[in-house]
Amino acid sequence: METLLLKNGFLNMEVDPSLDIFEEIKKLKKEKNAILLAHYYQENDIQDAADYIGDSLGLSQQAAKTDADVIVFAGVHFMAETAKILCPEKKVLLPDLRAGCSLADSCPPKEFANFKAQHPDHIVITYINCSAEIKALSDIICTSSNAVQIVESLPPQQKIIFAPDKNLGNYISKKTGREMVLWNGSCMVHEIFSLEKITKLKHYHPNAKFIAHPECEQAVLALADFIGSTTALLSYTIKSPAKEFIVATETGILHQMEKSSPEKTFIPAPPNNNCACNDCPHMKLNTLEKLYLCLKYEQPEIKMSKSLLDKARLPINRMLELSAKYGL
Ligand code: 13P
Ligand code: SF4
Repeated sequence: METLLLKNGFLNMEVDPSLDIFEEIKKLKKEKNAILLAHYYQENDIQDAADYIGDSLGLSQQAAKTDADVIVFAGVHFMAETAKILCPEKKVLLPDLRAGCSLADSCPPKEFANFKAQHPDHIVITYINCSAEIKALSDIICTSSNAVQIVESLPPQQKIIFAPDKNLGNYISKKTGREMVLWNGSCMVHEIFSLEKITKLKHYHPNAKFIAHPECEQAVLALADFIGSTTALLSYTIKSPAKEFIVATETGILHQMEKSSPEKTFIPAPPNNNCACNDCPHMKLNTLEKLYLCLKYEQPEIKMSKSLLDKARLPINRMLELSAKYGL
């Protein structure tokens, strides 16, 4: 493969507008034995081109079991890193390397290592939304799909550090009745929902179910009829007899909700700024054009040292083993 110069973390090249990108992506995937994994927060076109769409747990499980040679990860950096950690021999591509995560950035490894050293008798459970360096400092990784079961799998007297999301940590603490030492991190997308606007929306839509991701603040979660990971929120909307839903998470999830239940109405919960909906600026850096170029030229690629890959794999494997044990 010819070496191309990546500028600013992505292939900034013209794509012929007359090209049927969906068809080209399909051909390239076959030619290269590649799989396209996408998170629910990706733009609609990317979701429509994907082989698998899921939440962080589902995406890690798919990465761990795929026999593809190339994994194109349409998500953010920590997700593609997780795929590389689980499949070190495969080529893992991310359409735009700048696709980071405010939550992962809120937990720098040096500061976290000091924090951990202050609590030497604590087990470190870390939300998957963190860098590989933080994973390497952790005992067990979790996602919003399995955090309750993972915390409950530990003996009651076991002291726990939960990082980096204080909102998810508080929610899990309440659910399990376990006190945990929390790292003070948060997600910029889930922290800016407006309580006032949500209350108003609920008033105008009295029959709507209000559903929220556990990365939201406690005051927002307190109003929710249902709380869960993106996959759990989607299944709730499919199974519920309700016809209207106010959805407090990134708006990308609405695409699958609308596709699965076209007869139902989905209203994105509004943030406390002038926008009507709430997009993750990191997730939305990936576009269908960047995805096509990345698959064609096999760049940008996720690369890490073997020692970091090996250290970060242990806590992820513990999560996958526990998830299998609990049928998740
Ligand atoms: P899940 O899809 O695992 O619920 O995670 C949400 C999220 O914020 C991913 O960045
Ligand atoms: Fe990170 Fe929040 Fe964006 Fe998810 S939605 S990638 S947690 S910033």
